[in-house]
Amino acid sequence: MQLAGSFQWTVRQYALAESFMSSCERLLHYDALPGEDERSADAALAAWAPASGTVALEDVRCRYRPGSPDVVLGVSATLASGSNVGIVGRTGSGKSSLLLSLNRLNLVSGGAVRIDGVDASTLPLAALRRAVALIPQEPFLFQGTRRYNLDPFGLRDDATLAGTLATLGMGGAGLDDRVLENGDNLSAGERQLTCVARALLLDRRVICLDEATASVDADSDAAIQRALRAAPAFRAATLIVVAHRIGTIIDSDTILVLDAGRLVEAGPPAELLADDASHFAGLVKASGLGKSRSSSNLPGDTQGRNRAPKVTFGRLSGPEKNLLEGNLP
Ligand SMILES: Nc1ncnc2c1ncn2[C@@H]1O[C@H](COP(=O)(O)OP(=O)(O)OP(=O)(O)O)[C@@H](O)[C@H]1O
Ligand SMILES: [Mg+2]
Repeated sequence: MQLAGSFQWTVRQYALAESFMSSCERLLHYDALPGEDERSADAALAAWAPASGTVALEDVRCRYRPGSPDVVLGVSATLASGSNVGIVGRTGSGKSSLLLSLNRLNLVSGGAVRIDGVDASTLPLAALRRAVALIPQEPFLFQGTRRYNLDPFGLRDDATLAGTLATLGMGGAGLDDRVLENGDNLSAGERQLTCVARALLLDRRVICLDEATASVDADSDAAIQRALRAAPAFRAATLIVVAHRIGTIIDSDTILVLDAGRLVEAGPPAELLADDASHFAGLVKASGLGKSRSSSNLPGDTQGRNRAPKVTFGRLSGPEKNLLEGNLP
């Protein structure tokens, strides 16, 4: 009996030792990985911060690793300071890749991204990421409390954090609630909203939202979009939104339409919709939004930064509501 017990203990110890060894091996492997590319960082620019947040894309090309093919193939556009820009396109057209290139999270292999005229590739990464906030398509949460996830550097007081949660309809969430690794104990929508709240609390001149509310129901999404546009932090910033529901971006100042890594159309939504043959009109039609809405609902002016979104889904239900949600194909 005793021998059997000792044998089991030995096997358990052996398994534990093996798992600790693999942890060490993994740490050594991570340590040997090359760090992010700071090649041309100019120390004088360490304290740089953009005054207005104008973003100029000059024939931007990007790829994910050295030697791999470019996935964004020369996009040029100027995004005015404080404007509201929507990016649309089919799956795999390069929307997320273009947003990542603004933050140098992938490799800009050609052209340049300029923020307030400064080439982003010459900025230290810390300065660049202080200027540009990105809410990625996959929400990222840390193990810890909700407070830590909202404000990892402890810069805001509790009242501000609670107020921001309330803005997004999460007023009931406690700041001391535990968040598991990757937010495993939160729903997909709650994870996304926590990331949106984190961005709201940062004072950034350029804010990129990549399908940030795709997992939130349409009613809450419409309410959140209204709240975002009204939030002081977002009102002053250049807001670049990749949307899952076309209704989210239809009242943007400018729409960029991407197709297979190229910019195929750019302009105010009303202008793009006026041409029935445009890519954007095609996407709106495919989403069911165009034919379901009266023409008076379509965007008319292009200064709509502080307006409530014109698309609301609150009073509808069933198939009509699904159609009007306008999920992009
Ligand atoms: N991590 C990655 N490594 C290598 N290639 C990638 C990676 N992520 C995306 N790609 C490639 O880049 C291209 C554009 O992808 P991207 O994620 O930018 O598309 P998207 O327009 O955001 O699509 P979706 O609407 O599905 O989010 C795709 O062909 C894809 O294969
Ligand atoms: Mg994407």
